[in-house]
Amino acid sequence: MTQHDPTPLASTDGPAAAGSGAVAGRTLHLRAAGVSLVVDVPTTSVPVVVHWGADLGDLSERQLDDLVASGRPARSNNDLDVPQPARLLPETSWGWSGRPGLSGHRAGAAWSTRFVPTAVHVETGTGGGGRLQVDCADGTAGLGLVLELELLPSGLLRHRATVTNTGADGYEVADLALSLPVPVVATEVFDLAGRWAKERIPQRRPLTFGAHVRENRRGRTGPDAPLVLAVGTEGFGFRRGEVWAQHTAFSGNHRSVVERLNSGTTTLSGGELLLPGEVLLAAGESYRSPWVFGAWSDAGLDGIAARFHEHLRARPHHPGSPRPVVVNTWEAVYFDLDLDKLLELARAAAEVGAERYVLDDGWFRHRRSDDAGLGDWYVDEGVWPQGLHPLVDGVRALGLQFGLWVEPEMVNPDSDLARAHPDWILRSGDRLPLESRQQQVLDLGNPDAYAYVLERLDAVLSEYEISYLKWDHNRDLVEAGSGPVRAPGVHAQTLAVYRLFDELRRRHPGVEIESCSSGGLRVDLEVLEHTDRVWASDCIDPLERQDIQRWTLQLLPPELIGSHVGASPSHTTHRSSDLSFRAGTAFFASFGIETDLTRLSADEREELARWVTLYKDVRGLLHTGTLVRADDVDPSFRVHGTVAPDGSDALFAVVQTGTPDGSVPGRVRLPGLLPQAEYEVTAQEPGHDPAVRGGRDLPWLASGVRLTGRALEAAGVVAPAMQPQQLLLLRVRRA
Ligand code: DGJ
Repeated sequence: MTQHDPTPLASTDGPAAAGSGAVAGRTLHLRAAGVSLVVDVPTTSVPVVVHWGADLGDLSERQLDDLVASGRPARSNNDLDVPQPARLLPETSWGWSGRPGLSGHRAGAAWSTRFVPTAVHVETGTGGGGRLQVDCADGTAGLGLVLELELLPSGLLRHRATVTNTGADGYEVADLALSLPVPVVATEVFDLAGRWAKERIPQRRPLTFGAHVRENRRGRTGPDAPLVLAVGTEGFGFRRGEVWAQHTAFSGNHRSVVERLNSGTTTLSGGELLLPGEVLLAAGESYRSPWVFGAWSDAGLDGIAARFHEHLRARPHHPGSPRPVVVNTWEAVYFDLDLDKLLELARAAAEVGAERYVLDDGWFRHRRSDDAGLGDWYVDEGVWPQGLHPLVDGVRALGLQFGLWVEPEMVNPDSDLARAHPDWILRSGDRLPLESRQQQVLDLGNPDAYAYVLERLDAVLSEYEISYLKWDHNRDLVEAGSGPVRAPGVHAQTLAVYRLFDELRRRHPGVEIESCSSGGLRVDLEVLEHTDRVWASDCIDPLERQDIQRWTLQLLPPELIGSHVGASPSHTTHRSSDLSFRAGTAFFASFGIETDLTRLSADEREELARWVTLYKDVRGLLHTGTLVRADDVDPSFRVHGTVAPDGSDALFAVVQTGTPDGSVPGRVRLPGLLPQAEYEVTAQEPGHDPAVRGGRDLPWLASGVRLTGRALEAAGVVAPAMQPQQLLLLRVRRA
């Protein structure tokens, strides 16, 4: 029996859908998509997660009580007299020796809290899962706390906290982090690192005592953001092992931590990283943390990705229209903007089947290179005597949507804006931050600066038929002080840009926004609440992109990840590659082209057009299917694909990225299909290089084979001998 007050939790909505949730005593059991979340809500403290993992089935009230009772920590020598479990918001007042959930103080006092629930609200979701809200107070510290915890229909979990200063004088929130416990079976840690043009580098290590802390102080999500911080059973892979993962959904400074205490308790936690004095709450003011997401799966990292993808795809504002083929001008012409040339490029874009044309950097006043003009968001009259109208009209007359590049948070010191409003630049004291790409950051926490940027963007969007903004952000925030005393301003800046996105979308409802920040440096689940696509990296060398996309997919589904066919040699790496490798790489994303099409040969344009046709043909599958990444593949190969939700269709890529020790890849396993169903496997044109076309010495490739999903996963098919930077597409259709 539970020792807590048996008064049932207040249920604030109608009857629960079958299997979606049950409240017994003060223990809540939420279930969704194969996940159980059991939360004990004591009367004396913030909640305790008793179980987060595999679905436990229907549990009676007594069984839930027993689950709580049997989960209480055992007492060991030199321990607290009554050992304490990990709580959603760990507090030192409960003897917690790890990182506390809330750090703060009131002029040196109120630094240790003991929150007690004052109200509990439960809503069970009709699609599975549900929501728990626990309102708490600490009268001594003069603080209120609202904890929100949701199990979403995808089986993904998210939680956040709001702290309110109920005292009479100021309270500083120094840190607020939400925690989830993970069981001792998790012994390995996995996350991502990265740098500009090589974002999303996987790293793995044993889960040892202490904390693995991933902190970001760049003022933007960063190339080195963990994206997901995962722990799991030994050897967990793409498709095997039990994994618990965390994502902190914030585009400013943030933190993700896995911590193992000597008690053996392991927690995954996350939150915003606050700078000194950044959040000072006056009486009655509140601070709300970002959402921190949790994902559990017993099917490895693909199982984790599937939960994030399902969640994102279920959002009402998830892009619903087919993801258009984009042509972007950046790597085609850079700053060399000439109307005739741009129209020629647009005609070539239309010829290969593109659907959206994006004018990149360089269209506004003083912007002839990257060292001037940012902030002067007026069409440059010298370059565009008739404004952008001839280009916009010309592009639209060809049947393409028109998109425009902007970088609204930034300002070049060499700009009319910086000269007129030097006080609008984020800085600490009298010192200007070190420049990066010859630019500084506008203080969007300053209402006048915010109003200027909003007015300018609104004016441009109102004057032209623009369907799409590519929204760039090309530098870290350094010494980002805001307001009269130049207090730390990253928090306010981050919320201001979210507001700016939302206000522009409200005023211009059809406009989609791409989050581009030097490529993939602002990729997180909160920015995607305000935008529609991310530009995954400034590197479009397909060899690098194979892995950048492979790991960006860990969080985002392919339809949200921009990927373009570039030139050969690549502009960022100078590596050369065949068109089939470039196109077959960009293909498994939101596809586009970013090279001077007018300089391609007729043959190349014709080949590219065939890729565009195939993309249009299969984007429904690519952008609704389930991600599959095969384990145990030779390190010189990647095998990935997408399988339709009903298992009727799939497209796989066998990609050779390096030079294997053996000369051929051997049998390649194609997992994720319906085990009993029979499939026809054929080579998908134009998705393999002429060198392997026709299945030279590999008759099955020429004729196709029929095998069950089980056989394709367990035995696989022999892939042809290829060279580094070649790929083969396999279409796998239910027979
Ligand atoms: C960085 C972006 O990632 C590029 O794609 C391009 O838009 C440049 N900025 C333009 O300055």
